[in-house]
Amino acid sequence: MRTQVAIIGAGPSGLLLGQLLHNAGISNVIVERRSGEYVLSRIRAGVLEEGIVQLLREAKVGRRMDAEGMVHHGVQIAFREQIRHVDLARHAFGKTVMVYGQTELTRDLMEERAAAGAVTLYNVPDVSIHDIGSEHPSLQFTLNGEKEILECDYIAGCDGFHGISRHAIPAEIRGEYEKVYPFGWLGVLSDTPPVSPELIYGAHSRGFFLCSMRSLTRSRYYLEVPIAEKEENWSDDRFWSELKSRMPESVASQLSTGPSIEKSIAPLRSFVVEPMQYGRLFLVGDAAHIVPPTGAKGLNLAASDVNYLFRILVKVFHEGRTDLLARYSPLALDRIWKAERFSWWMTSMLHRLSANPFDHRVQLAELDYFTSSDEGLQTIARNYVGLPYQEVL
Ligand code: FAD
Ligand code: PHB
Repeated sequence: MRTQVAIIGAGPSGLLLGQLLHNAGISNVIVERRSGEYVLSRIRAGVLEEGIVQLLREAKVGRRMDAEGMVHHGVQIAFREQIRHVDLARHAFGKTVMVYGQTELTRDLMEERAAAGAVTLYNVPDVSIHDIGSEHPSLQFTLNGEKEILECDYIAGCDGFHGISRHAIPAEIRGEYEKVYPFGWLGVLSDTPPVSPELIYGAHSRGFFLCSMRSLTRSRYYLEVPIAEKEENWSDDRFWSELKSRMPESVASQLSTGPSIEKSIAPLRSFVVEPMQYGRLFLVGDAAHIVPPTGAKGLNLAASDVNYLFRILVKVFHEGRTDLLARYSPLALDRIWKAERFSWWMTSMLHRLSANPFDHRVQLAELDYFTSSDEGLQTIARNYVGLPYQEVL
């Protein structure tokens, strides 16, 4: 088998890159370890920045998102009995965010790819990466019991945090920066109307909570829990009562509860690998970086990587501009580190950092400071809606 770009991973990074390349006449094959159904069963992100929204439209997969996604002009931040409104449009140059689930976006990308006749190989458990330092890189794997070699010009490692791609960069070149937090997020999805028309990020001495949504009839809620906590210990009743105990009374009294349709715990981590390119291998999305979800940045950062790599590859294949390949890693990392900073800061400001009440009082003062001045609100709003993409040339 031969293709121009071999893509490892059919998450949002791999599928979006594949779609944009396909539309630009650049052939690509996606090789995914799991089944399509499994990929669609993972409940993850919900908030899209304008950058990814535009990119999905450019990839011609934005129709359902534009019809069903919900434009949000603001978010709320709750602490003590207070609720502060962050008017995104007012403080961030008229920009807004779109609430549309990663599951739906992934489904749209999969359907469009299938309709376009582009190849995705699912259930491939043993991909290996070869000769990225040469002009003839390849992927090798087993398909239907047969050994396959996929020759290509470039490889995009879109295989998430647990993938193999970043390990193909030699250890003496690869720099890894990591921060692991002592808490995780317990998430519940339920077919209940959202408690508020806007997302609510809340700080409480018992821990952080988040009220999010997927539609006007489907809610997504999260609670900060200790890292060693297990889902089994959380009945629906326990979840709802803990959530209410952390909410201001005016919000708790409005909460509709119901049976959970999904419940899972996600660990929180900050992680960056540098550089994001080695030879003909390029790392994209969670394969190269992880942010704690408090800033809603993970999927959005994956999209900005895709944006840069796609525009560079178009110039490479259509105009022979191989000189641009070296621009990818520094361009992507510039935006990634700023999103890492924002996600770490939001996490630190809103979670229970220690049992020392002093730390909590300092957090409350910080929240009050940043949510009661134009400068503070601008800092939150402009980062939340997403920093602009840079020009590739
Ligand atoms: P992934 O989605 O991890 O996809 C990688 C794919 O590669 C997977 O399908 C995997 O099976 C496959 N793969 C792995 N190894 C191999 C291999 N060896 N061979 C072949 N295939 C392989 N982000 C936001 O922007 N906004 C949010 O609101 C938000 N909320 C979140 C909430 C939670 C609870 C979590 C956990 C994450 C959240 N994120 C959010 C982050 C977002 O979900 C991720 O950043 C996003 O999924 C990254 O996409 P990706 O395609 O790079 O990686
Ligand atoms: C979600 O809806 O899953 C979600 C929303 C905002 C976040 C993180 C997760 O910051």
